[in-house]
Amino acid sequence: MLEHLIPARRHFDGADPIFTMNAAAQKAAANGVSVINATMGALLDDDGKFVVLDSVMSLYRQLTPMEIAPYAPIAGDPKFILALTQRHWPDLTSYGVGVATPGGTGALALSLKNLLEPGMTLLTVAPYWSPYATLATEARLTLETVPYPPAGGALDLARWRSTAERILRAQGRLLFWLNDPCHNPTGRSLSTSDRRALLGMLRELSAIGPVTLLLDFAYLDYARDPQTVTDALTDYRAFGEEGRVLVGACLSLSKAFTLYGARAGALVFPWCTDRPLAEALSTSCRGTFSNCARAPMSLLLRMQADTSAQAALAAEHAHWRALLTTRADALDAALRAEGLDGASWDAGYFVTIPSDDATTLAERLTHEGVYVVPMQGGVRVGICGVRAADAPRFARALRVCQEQDATAAR
Ligand SMILES: Cc1ncc(COP(=O)(O)O)c(C=O)c1O
Repeated sequence: MLEHLIPARRHFDGADPIFTMNAAAQKAAANGVSVINATMGALLDDDGKFVVLDSVMSLYRQLTPMEIAPYAPIAGDPKFILALTQRHWPDLTSYGVGVATPGGTGALALSLKNLLEPGMTLLTVAPYWSPYATLATEARLTLETVPYPPAGGALDLARWRSTAERILRAQGRLLFWLNDPCHNPTGRSLSTSDRRALLGMLRELSAIGPVTLLLDFAYLDYARDPQTVTDALTDYRAFGEEGRVLVGACLSLSKAFTLYGARAGALVFPWCTDRPLAEALSTSCRGTFSNCARAPMSLLLRMQADTSAQAALAAEHAHWRALLTTRADALDAALRAEGLDGASWDAGYFVTIPSDDATTLAERLTHEGVYVVPMQGGVRVGICGVRAADAPRFARALRVCQEQDATAAR
């Protein structure tokens, strides 16, 4: 072990569970195994080809050197931040306080630096996108969770309230990351009544101390029913406008434009004008990554100015939304045909199959050529990469593995 590495940084295995399982699937495929690779969070077509959006790429090709090469402002181009915010709330004329970040991940990371002290606890919902835990560790924070409501069941408001209140009273502030609507990994969105109950609870808690609700939006363009996304955003806007709870949002072009590698996003607090917050965030940009890539900022501005490109993008989103719906429905039907519980899906790239021992289940599935990501409480299945035609094979493999689990438990 290199003495140069500080002791606190010596216990990592460096492995990200998502990329590890994907590497295993690719290795098996390279060895001639017929695999179903449901590990990654990137949209693939039914031939297994990475989806790029033509409407986006044709604008990208038009970018001039000056739209690509110069440094962007440290806090990001304000026009870009506004345009990205308006993709979510079209009527807003200001993004309030905000900075450009490398994707939504950058926005999540900056929220931790600025809204919690090291040693404090961040609250989120389980299951969660696994980098949440890494982000918390990197910020020297503890991550605590409340359970996502079960399919068809209501949110356990009493448990959410008592957990949030305990953390808030213990540390004098609360930061709650909420990946809604279009949750990764469950593939569901909170019902309107659950969402409103949660907002009411946070409103009440804000009488005790500062509460921040940070909305992590990654998959909003891929909902079964886009109206549910609009409705959720309307609720969050009304809640943010009240001004009691600080409401922020992590925005990203990764999924929206299938520009994962462009690392374009923003952290915004649209209903806040606090100068010190703006300056702290801008300082974090400078002290973390300096400034973000200019090209995707220029691209979004071109998109905003081009109504026919917008129409083409909307048509592409509608196409891929429909494909995800077909895949989710095929998987649900295939699971039921095997006598298993179905997998309900509202939105996004994933569904979760509940399991008390997700690691063992994921391992068993590899023996059937099926690769998924084990998470707390279940395995994540990336329908973004699994054809509807593969659903019956997936469901059969799952039944076999669950039977093995049951036999082993006897
Ligand atoms: C729930 C969730 N939040 C945030 C992100 C961040 O993605 P990016 O940093 O590429 O915007 C992802 C990406 O997979 C995600 O699934």
